Amino acid sequence: DVFFKSTHSARPSSHLRTGTKITVVGVGNVGMAIAQTILTQELTTELALVDIQADKLRGEMLDLQHAAAFLPRTKIVANTDYAVTAGSDICVITAGARQRDGESRLDLVERNLHLFKSIVPQLTKYSPDTILLVVSNPVDILTYIAWKLSGLPSNRVLGSGTNLDSSRFRSLIADHLDVNAQDVQAYIIGEHGDSSVALWSSISVGGVPVLSLLEKQQIPYEKETLETIHSAVINSAYEVIRLKGYTSWAIGYSAASLVKSIVRNQKRIHPVSVLAKGFHGIEDDVFLSLPAQLGTGGVLGVANIPLTGEETQRLNMSAKAIFGVQKQLGV
Ligand code: NAI
Ligand code: 2OP
Repeated sequence: DVFFKSTHSARPSSHLRTGTKITVVGVGNVGMAIAQTILTQELTTELALVDIQADKLRGEMLDLQHAAAFLPRTKIVANTDYAVTAGSDICVITAGARQRDGESRLDLVERNLHLFKSIVPQLTKYSPDTILLVVSNPVDILTYIAWKLSGLPSNRVLGSGTNLDSSRFRSLIADHLDVNAQDVQAYIIGEHGDSSVALWSSISVGGVPVLSLLEKQQIPYEKETLETIHSAVINSAYEVIRLKGYTSWAIGYSAASLVKSIVRNQKRIHPVSVLAKGFHGIEDDVFLSLPAQLGTGGVLGVANIPLTGEETQRLNMSAKAIFGVQKQLGV
């Protein structure tokens, strides 16, 4: 009361939380890139961090707290005990092993399945109505596992999926056509990884459908260039991992864009990993990326995007690849 004299007879009691609380599990490269982007984009009033490395966790918390003078007022807390996450609106899971040079995302599955068994029940214990946003790899399979372990309805469990691949795709198309990536509408769906599916038929720039325009103007159909761009998207994570050891900044922005659509109830459509059974002929319980609408309820719906026969076939192959790994794991 030395600096501030209340004009109200009673201040609101401190247990009445207003605003948004977001938890990030795992304070490695990815968790911290996401935490930092969430803070700079002013998406939350409270940020909770959890990791098993107590010193690193406290160090990261202090380092972020020391930026308080440059940021909107945000409470930043951290603990190895999940009680610190209580009442989170969204829990972002980034904990776990990452690929070493040459490893695929699927190579991580057994190590990260084991971790998820200790993480997910703790999160839902303290935040029974939370939305889980899975980022750890292989993200589609771990999102399925998080859904199973959490008991949450499927609309409250999603994976960051191909939101990142689609951003890579849009930026490469933008370079190729010399336009702004924000004006390029283009989706990669399916597995976040090697069997992802590029939706060439629905690419548009500023509302102009690209493929049909090229065909109408009788510009030679650039199938080879298009395939090269998709291969570049698939290879881009491997390239960054070979060069700097891990990927972080792009996933930081990608995950923050999903958090923003949810907490601000933006109803924007993002390609994210959702329960795909029943869409486009998929019959198995798998999560993979489809264009989904996001808001405070989590996944509000899935866009009924028209696919060509080939795209449907590739998507189903992606689903089979994911389901095959799940069966091997016995989950
Ligand atoms: P990192 O090794 O830098 O960080 C992992 C963190 O998880 C470490 O701080 C570690 O102490 C923590 N951790 C391990 N076990 C834990 C547990 N049981 N509970 C809480 N924390 C635990 O790895 P990095 O680079 O941050 O990658 C994290 C994950 O994100 C990897 O699986 C990686 O493949 C994935 N990833 C996913 C992307 C996507 O688009 N979905 C993009 C980039 C990375
Ligand atoms: C990425 O695509 C490795 O999944 C990670 O950046």
